[in-house]
Amino acid sequence: MKKIVIAIDGYSACGKSSTAREVASALGYTYIDTGAMYRAVTLYFQQNHVSLSNEKDIAKAVANIEVSFVLNAEKGSFDTYLNGLNVEKEIRQMYISESVSQVSRIRAVRDAMVAQQRRLGKKKGVVMDGRDIGTVVFPEAELKIFMLADMHVRAERRQKELLEKGQMVNFDEIMDNLEMRDTIDTTRQESPLKQAKDAIVVNTTFLLLEEQIDEIVNLALGRILQESPESSRS
Ligand code: DC
Repeated sequence: MKKIVIAIDGYSACGKSSTAREVASALGYTYIDTGAMYRAVTLYFQQNHVSLSNEKDIAKAVANIEVSFVLNAEKGSFDTYLNGLNVEKEIRQMYISESVSQVSRIRAVRDAMVAQQRRLGKKKGVVMDGRDIGTVVFPEAELKIFMLADMHVRAERRQKELLEKGQMVNFDEIMDNLEMRDTIDTTRQESPLKQAKDAIVVNTTFLLLEEQIDEIVNLALGRILQESPESSRS
């Protein structure tokens, strides 16, 4: 069977990551969370006091950043590593969510991350989620999904997810953060979040996680068969 690239783009907290992770696992593909990469860069910038208005500092910092994903056998999922250190827990904190959109709008940051993402997806057999995967990183991806959901539902899901990780965050604070990130992510100059022309829209407002996983796995199997004409004849 031929391997394909599955690009899942969409707004924050629509269930992209949870869905993409399970779709990858069902197909035996690698899951790459590109939001985690921008979060790791944001953490690096904060730890190293990189000024967002100093292009030289940014270029130097970006050249020193290596983001990788390592299997956490206990959880059965991949943790994000920044220059060899596990930062999975730290990058999910609210203070990172509050500044990640400011960092991910910077061109030098995007250029470096997109190059890493293309390397990670070169051999195909990947499910990559983010904002610009179907439009910029892999415009030739065989399957593109654009996810959206009602804002209130997204905030509720994010609050529950944070609570499960032991973080109690006020509902209004989450709504404000999602609205702020939507605005920056969709209006920035560099690779703004937008639906690719050939993307399939999946509105997750009324869907259970299992339903959205099934929908995308089925779409993927269809594309894989289309791409593997020999196997569909046998
Ligand atoms: O998916 P997430 O919420 O963890 O992403 C965090 C931020 O990273 C998001 O607000 C925008 C940015 N991002 C991006 O600009 N491009 C991507 N491919 C993925 C995320």
